[in-house]
Amino acid sequence: MDAPLKIAIVGASGGIGAALLDLLADRDDVASIHASYFKSPAGSSLGSVGNFGNSTEIIWSELDASDDASVQAWMASVGQIDWLINCVGMLHTQTKGPEKSIKHLDAEHFAMSMSVNCLPTMLLAKYASAALKGSQNGIFATVSARVGSIEDNKLGGWYSYRASKAALNMVLKCLSIEWQRTLKNVRVLSLHPGTTDSRLSKPFQNNVPEGSLFSPEKTATLLLAQLDSAKSHPSGRFIAYDGQEIPW
Ligand SMILES: NC(=O)c1ccc[n+]([C@@H]2O[C@H](COP(=O)([O-])OP(=O)(O)OC[C@H]3O[C@@H](n4cnc5c(N)ncnc54)[C@H](OP(=O)(O)O)[C@@H]3O)[C@@H](O)[C@H]2O)c1
Repeated sequence: MDAPLKIAIVGASGGIGAALLDLLADRDDVASIHASYFKSPAGSSLGSVGNFGNSTEIIWSELDASDDASVQAWMASVGQIDWLINCVGMLHTQTKGPEKSIKHLDAEHFAMSMSVNCLPTMLLAKYASAALKGSQNGIFATVSARVGSIEDNKLGGWYSYRASKAALNMVLKCLSIEWQRTLKNVRVLSLHPGTTDSRLSKPFQNNVPEGSLFSPEKTATLLLAQLDSAKSHPSGRFIAYDGQEIPW
């Protein structure tokens, strides 16, 4: 039998991250979860170290995943892990949403999109090698988005979000190539979660066809099935919640 998993979830305070945390915390094959939040932890009653009633230990930390020194310190604190799942992301702020036209481009919003959607994965990867090196079935996964696919882009628009997710995907592809030489036991994955009911998607849910808006629990269940089967597949895949490969 494999040793129980040690997991780190970055952005465990978000809709998808919190649902992944809930499901993983209930599993007997998970020993510990390092969970990070940016502004506030999910389930604030947990405090900095929580326990969901079974033997899974939950260790909460505040983390600005776009800050090099903070990521370095956090990665050093998590010790050995098997899976790292990054659920950090943004589509809109209080004042700016995704651009319908290039005329709506705002330089600050673009820079922020890159800083939240792409940079954290680069920083986490920069410092994750030591933490993942000892794992037999390691996973380094980031929740990306289908709209980051260049080939799949039929509608245009959403310049900053699409560009930041396309950049993220390039980072993950590069990483999968580099780690095939240096971290052979780690699968690198870019995940499309499907449209999920969360803060991020709230303003755009009117356009979602009936029955196509997933609950965070459904998304987390589907994504976990992909993570559980990752070791049967090569590293460096961009896949949807149902395992379908998405063109980069
Ligand atoms: N929901 C969808 O329909 C959908 C579709 C496709 C792709 N995605 C992707 O799925 C991922 C998760 O999205 P979600 O729907 O769960 O959104 P969400 O509920 O808004 O969660 C976003 C998460 O990102 C964290 N975050 C934001 N800026 C951060 C920073 N600088 N440093 C660290 N953490 C930061 C937030 O932390 P705090 O809560 O602590 O501020 C929160 O945990 C995103 O990458 C998103 O692009 C979502």
